Amino acid sequence: MRVLLTGAAGKLGQALRQQVPEGVELIATSRNGGGDGLLPLDLADAEACRAAVRSHRPDWVLNGGAPRAFAEALMETGGHLLQVSTDFVFNGQQGTPYRPEQSRDPLGAYGRTKATGEEAVEQQLAGSGRGVILRTSWVMGPVGKNFALTMLRLHRERAASWFDVAVAVGELAQELELLEQSAVVKPLTTADYPTPAQRPSYSLLDCSGSRRALGLPPTPWRQVMRQLLQALP
Ligand SMILES: NC(=O)c1ccc[n+]([C@@H]2O[C@H](COP(=O)([O-])OP(=O)(O)OC[C@H]3O[C@@H](n4cnc5c(N)ncnc54)[C@H](OP(=O)(O)O)[C@@H]3O)[C@@H](O)[C@H]2O)c1
Repeated sequence: MRVLLTGAAGKLGQALRQQVPEGVELIATSRNGGGDGLLPLDLADAEACRAAVRSHRPDWVLNGGAPRAFAEALMETGGHLLQVSTDFVFNGQQGTPYRPEQSRDPLGAYGRTKATGEEAVEQQLAGSGRGVILRTSWVMGPVGKNFALTMLRLHRERAASWFDVAVAVGELAQELELLEQSAVVKPLTTADYPTPAQRPSYSLLDCSGSRRALGLPPTPWRQVMRQLLQALP
């Protein structure tokens, strides 16, 4: 099976490149390409995305951006698309976990672009079973910019928030002897921490359908956080 992976230099992309199943021929792309076998593919260039599908003819495209261009080209070549999307397609106002089929109502630019991409996948590929949207709230890994690493840095500098995760990073890092001492973490609300991008205040995703489809048991997030901290370079 041939898989075209975009954003291959990012957190998720790097993790996927380390675990390529046998029988998968991976075509890994990043914005500018790179010495470690990455081909250049700018997701802002819709024609380049369509051309990549036409020339490589992947069975699957694993992708975070430009879903419309990929979906259009895959309609011709017959391949599949997995779009990695986000809880930010919801407005965060309902107070119970969001199910996959619920209406999108993004608050900010990031959520709007991801929602537009989802619509393209649904309109063009989902009906034929060739388009899959996988929403996640967090992508964390031992590389790149992410909350766990930011918290580890802030514990070292003694300031912190996003309460439970921040506390856990401090506790686990002490256990693993990455920190001698963790910072005191003070809880605060999202309203007390304004950011330029508007974020949904509650955007828990109901993952039961994905777990059933993938045959994955729920994994306690502290366990995953421990693995992440242990894998830090
Ligand atoms: N991080 C999270 O917590 C989170 C939460 C929900 C959903 N997601 C989704 O999960 C997916 C992967 O996230 P991640 O955290 O692994 O992302 P990441 O580490 O920020 O990596 C994203 C990658 O996409 C590349 N990229 C951005 N614009 C591009 C363009 N125009 N052309 C080609 N490549 C481009 C970046 O390349 P450069 O290095 O060249 O800029 C970067 O390597 C994304 O679709 C994201 O929306 C992430």
